[in-house]
Amino acid sequence: MNSENLLTLSGVHTHIGAYHILHGVDLAVPKGQVTLLLGRNGAGKSTTLRTIMGLWRASSGKLHFAGEDITALSTPEIASRNIAYVPENMGIFSDLTVRENMLLAARSAASERQMDPARLQWIFGLFPAVEKFWNHPAGKLSGGQKQMLAVARAIVEPRELLIVDEPSKGLAPAIINNMIDAFAELKRTGVTILLVEQNIRFAQKLGDSVAVMDNGVVVHSGSMAALSGDAALQKSLLGLAI
Ligand SMILES: Nc1ncnc2c1ncn2[C@@H]1O[C@H](COP(=O)(O)OP(=O)(O)O)[C@@H](O)[C@H]1O
Ligand SMILES: [Mg+2]
Repeated sequence: MNSENLLTLSGVHTHIGAYHILHGVDLAVPKGQVTLLLGRNGAGKSTTLRTIMGLWRASSGKLHFAGEDITALSTPEIASRNIAYVPENMGIFSDLTVRENMLLAARSAASERQMDPARLQWIFGLFPAVEKFWNHPAGKLSGGQKQMLAVARAIVEPRELLIVDEPSKGLAPAIINNMIDAFAELKRTGVTILLVEQNIRFAQKLGDSVAVMDNGVVVHSGSMAALSGDAALQKSLLGLAI
């Protein structure tokens, strides 16, 4: 794999208050690929995503997106580079309908009529629950349906990079398969995807590249195929064979 990198983190340190959480993260996200960020609980995966989005500020190190230094940019400026981020808590509005959640995510659309109808139909195809529950309060959706709405919101407009924190967390196997298919379709349209995942089967089905974090640093990076084919490496990095 020698395609160009859309996003790179070089020696990124992040402090949260008095705590030093990231200790020099080096991460490359190749353009057009699905990159999986793996690692045990507390390794620093979510903090890395929040640092990419400018929600935590890197105390040292550099972040580059499409050749531009984004280290000092604000979160809205970073998002305006067509980077979408779905946080662990999904960031949807429970009291609003699915439709209103989608409208709010479409920055350029003031009403439903202004949402790109072809894109909306494509999203309905990926996530039928979004269409089915269009006029229902989002808070009434199941966990899996909420996760689908969260990803649907993130892609309501075309994106360069889609970042999702643990998309399969708490989902039933059938919903996980639906989610895998949706990400595969997104990748097919050329979107670069960075996923934090604990579910190894999910990771293996989608991942091109993989980075494994521990204690606030990336301890391994390479191809998913190489990791999948090396039981000893899996055991040493993840504590289990895939
Ligand atoms: N808001 C916070 N305040 C203090 N410590 C935090 C905060 N968020 C995360 N941490 C700590 O940072 C470390 C990394 O957390 P996180 O990035 O959420 O890990 P992961 O997503 O890999 O499970 C953990 O030790 C966690 O306790
Ligand atoms: Mg996390």
